[in-house]
Amino acid sequence: MADIKVGIVGLGRLGKTHANNVASNIPGMILTAACSVVESELEYAREQLGVAETYTSYEDMVNSPNLDAIVIVSPSGFHTEQINLAMEKGLHVFCEKPIGLELDEIEKTVEIIESRPNQVFQLGFMRRYDESYQYAKEMVERGDLGELTVIRCYGIDPSSGLESFVKFAGASNSGGLFADMSIHDIDLVRWFSGKEVNRVWALGKNAAYPELDEVGELETGAAMMQLEDKTMALLVAGRNAVHGYHVETELIGTKGMLRIGAQPDKNLVTVFDENGVVRPTSQNFPERFRDAFLNEMKEFASCIREKRQPGVSARDGLEGTRVAYALQQSIDTKELIDITRD
Ligand code: NAI
Repeated sequence: MADIKVGIVGLGRLGKTHANNVASNIPGMILTAACSVVESELEYAREQLGVAETYTSYEDMVNSPNLDAIVIVSPSGFHTEQINLAMEKGLHVFCEKPIGLELDEIEKTVEIIESRPNQVFQLGFMRRYDESYQYAKEMVERGDLGELTVIRCYGIDPSSGLESFVKFAGASNSGGLFADMSIHDIDLVRWFSGKEVNRVWALGKNAAYPELDEVGELETGAAMMQLEDKTMALLVAGRNAVHGYHVETELIGTKGMLRIGAQPDKNLVTVFDENGVVRPTSQNFPERFRDAFLNEMKEFASCIREKRQPGVSARDGLEGTRVAYALQQSIDTKELIDITRD
């Protein structure tokens, strides 16, 4: 099969990682077009990545005759509209999480996607493509842990990224802490358990960074969720991990338990010095999930080549966002929220 010609929209904090992977690290894919509203990013795409076509308008890019697929890494509020346009043009679509910010728009987008089964659609829940998470998933599927009773998830961004986050949240709607951060953990809870969430209760606290109050964002949030089979899930999400990028997941079952990322290790080095015994920590998401970002894009390319859909669907995006908004609603109303399906 000829190379898959890809256009990317968004070359910011995460867009550059995907652009580099498509341009240099995925056999059978080439990055032919890039779109951004920042001229220096387009210059980077042309000069560093050899991208032939650069655009400041997404509509113009999707009209290019030189594309098979689109990778969407723009601010979350643009996702549904950009997915719809690319699907209508007959292109395959990889879109970053969350799938959108408005539930009614997401529902319409899911309908459009599902009405075009011959076009591949993949959502960027990259943790499902991380080696450790895949190992844990195989253990759960084999029944090694018995029946799951509790899933505990921490997703805390490093405080070193706070300045760039405040800029991101000031310029565009992040969707809030739960839609922006916990969405990955909500997806993991649904993925590991194979169950939907029925009831949620969430709380939050801002303490260290008043800048977050100004952009209407939470610094730390915690939530308790009950799944349809009574499994419990505990989530902690935050923006203020002073030691680095802390993503940790624990599964407790009737026959055993496991933890992934109990310490956010950067590598296998241990330093012995005047500070004691120190393990360097991972500092950001491109570093911690470097291989997962690569693996998910390889899967997107394989799905296009093999004419099949990936394991992570648009509907996973819809269900995850529904739960994230119930968590936000719980914060706003101080109530326990029931989202049990009929
Ligand atoms: P960013 O703010 O760093 O970059 C946004 C990019 O979109 C810039 O290149 C900007 O020029 C471009 N853009 C903005 N408006 C545009 C428009 N109207 N038309 C075309 N391009 C436009 O954002 P960041 O942090 O890279 O996030 C992008 C998306 O990736 C978000 O949806 C975010 O939720 C998601 N994300 C996912 C992560 C994950 O763990 N999977 C991690 C970080 C972000």
